[in-house]
Amino acid sequence: MNKILDKNITRNEPNTIINAKKVFDISKDMEIPGYIEPDQYVPEIDPNYHFDEETTLAILAGFKFNRRVLIQGLHGTGKSTHIEQVAARLNWRCVRINLDSHISRIDLIGKDAIILKEGKQITTFNEGILPWAIQSSTALVFDEYDAGRPDVMFVIQRILEADGKLTLLDQSKVISPHKYFRLFGTSNTVGLGDTTGLYHGTQQINQGQMDRWNVVTALNYLSEEIEAKIINSKISSLNENFLTKDNIINMVKLANLSRNGFKNGDLSTVMSPRTVISWAENSIIFKDISYAFKISFLNKCDETERGTLSEYYQRCFGELLPEEWLSAIIEKQIIEPDNV
Ligand SMILES: Nc1ncnc2c1ncn2[C@@H]1O[C@H](COP(=O)(O)OP(=O)(O)O)[C@@H](O)[C@H]1O
Ligand SMILES: [Mg+2]
Repeated sequence: MNKILDKNITRNEPNTIINAKKVFDISKDMEIPGYIEPDQYVPEIDPNYHFDEETTLAILAGFKFNRRVLIQGLHGTGKSTHIEQVAARLNWRCVRINLDSHISRIDLIGKDAIILKEGKQITTFNEGILPWAIQSSTALVFDEYDAGRPDVMFVIQRILEADGKLTLLDQSKVISPHKYFRLFGTSNTVGLGDTTGLYHGTQQINQGQMDRWNVVTALNYLSEEIEAKIINSKISSLNENFLTKDNIINMVKLANLSRNGFKNGDLSTVMSPRTVISWAENSIIFKDISYAFKISFLNKCDETERGTLSEYYQRCFGELLPEEWLSAIIEKQIIEPDNV
């Protein structure tokens, strides 16, 4: 969240109807309420975004019928951006809170602060993001929902109720949600805790918590062909024919090998579509695909796993990576001080 929240702006009810089939390129005909104009909290449209049918329908049901929708899937499958990109096209406000970070109950709810007014110290309540969002026509996304701290989950549990009221205990105040407030979540696990060992820091979500989500849907990585197409259009202005279509397909193939490796526990770092895009961009900038692979991905990976990556690289590009790239330790040159 890098936008400063202006708590004085309110938004009225939706004022237009959006045709889902046309706007999201999906097969179901559905009319969704939306807004004619964006405002500062509406995410920007990514014109190359590809909407997954099932996920998009779930999110649209969330917007239209006020369903609480939880999207589950591995890192980089497009969970967060699906919600954001739907909101962008409905011109619906959307704010993401990453529970993975060190978000505490106080950050969400707010806290007392001492300020100076006419030379006197007074205590006022500084509202957190949750009371603000709940009272407006905002789609709030709890990202990495399965990583939330227990104190945070306790607060969230109550707003997941059907009537979704938020009690500010310190303030003796109960806040009712705005009619067009919406709630979404994303998680890497299905709430059973991390049975695979892939996601440290995730918690088991208790049954009561899970039951409060009306719709739970799973998202997988894009097909090779569609991912390559997206990458191609994202780099087209930069490319000038350096990367061929085949190059891009091979990059996506390698990314998919890393994703399978991650699922099987062979790798602890996975190539998200975002990494593939920066790999492609760096390839063009440095005019070197393997060097770009090194600086965009390999250097982020554990040394013990770099041999596996070199093998993946060979499978996709027909050559192994230089041996010296597989070690994270850079030999320091010891410069003898001059004899003064
Ligand atoms: N369907 C898609 N169409 C276009 N880009 C996508 C799609 N899915 C993912 N991406 C790209 O992949 C990256 C990761 O997506 P993100 O939504 O952050 O994943 P997640 O929340 O599942 O970890 C983003 O840069 C996003 O633009
Ligand atoms: Mg995410």
